[in-house]
Amino acid sequence: MAHRAPEPAAPGRTPARHHPGPAHSAPPTPPYAARPPNPDPHLPQRPGPGVRETPPGYVPLPAVPKTRSPVPWLASVHGTPGRGAYGDAGYRGNCSGLLIKDLLLYYRPKRVFDPMTGGGTCRDVCRELKIACDSRDVRSGFDAADPPAYRGLGAFDFVWLHPPYWRMIRWSDDPRCLANAPTLADFLDRLGAVFRNCRGVLSPSGVLAVLMGDLRHEGRYQALPFHTFAVAEAAGLELAAPEIVRFSHGTTSAAEKEYPVAIIPRVHDVCLVLRRRDGTRAGR
Ligand SMILES: C[S@@+](CC[C@H](N)C(=O)[O-])C[C@H]1O[C@@H](n2cnc3c(N)ncnc32)[C@H](O)[C@@H]1O
Repeated sequence: MAHRAPEPAAPGRTPARHHPGPAHSAPPTPPYAARPPNPDPHLPQRPGPGVRETPPGYVPLPAVPKTRSPVPWLASVHGTPGRGAYGDAGYRGNCSGLLIKDLLLYYRPKRVFDPMTGGGTCRDVCRELKIACDSRDVRSGFDAADPPAYRGLGAFDFVWLHPPYWRMIRWSDDPRCLANAPTLADFLDRLGAVFRNCRGVLSPSGVLAVLMGDLRHEGRYQALPFHTFAVAEAAGLELAAPEIVRFSHGTTSAAEKEYPVAIIPRVHDVCLVLRRRDGTRAGR
């Protein structure tokens, strides 16, 4: 859990304000894995001198400034544990509904588009918040990269886009599925088409939030979040908020995985909240 320990009060300063976060951010029994001890007794077991130790499994966040946000715990790191009772938790590649919920509470859209719904996580969050949501997927015949597929959909003020992380998961043999793009360049071409199409149905003051992780292919990190921003920018979109690092809580396979080599494990995805470069700002 992203837990911000209260800062010590320096002389003349008040302690940093602690946002309690939503009720679901404080489960009674922390399910987090404790930080493993360093197996090499000659290497440091604890933070260096002058560094305050934090309980194992906790990541202290810096102080968050007071703003008028209706969702004060929503910051550029999203660490809420769990995924919420949204969508099909068994759908491969599903994401937590908790970041989607916080973004919807922040942006308060009237009409959401969810063109790669998978197990229906976004659809279920919208249902709970009573927001109209149009959810589609290539598995039910909607190709998000195909411009004619968008005819007659109307305008949306929020798009939630959770594409495949290229070839990380294979859902089908359908060549329209972005996971089946034979090369990274093909994947990015098709992702660019998805951005252009979604931008076309995004209202001038709307936002599109895209969630992207990364994978290693043939021994190389593919840098998918960086490429994703580049293709979004080429499609006429720009950042509407800082990129959000979303901790990968709920990824059950991670705790079971073991690598025979040393790596720096990736435990987050990146959410980019984008708006039309030619859009209206509506107070943001
Ligand atoms: C990462 S999963 C989304 C998971 C979802 N957020 C959830 O929580 O279950 C990506 C989805 O994109 C869909 N997809 C891939 N290519 C597509 C395309 N061209 N058009 C529409 N959906 C596509 C896949 O079928 C898959 O369900």
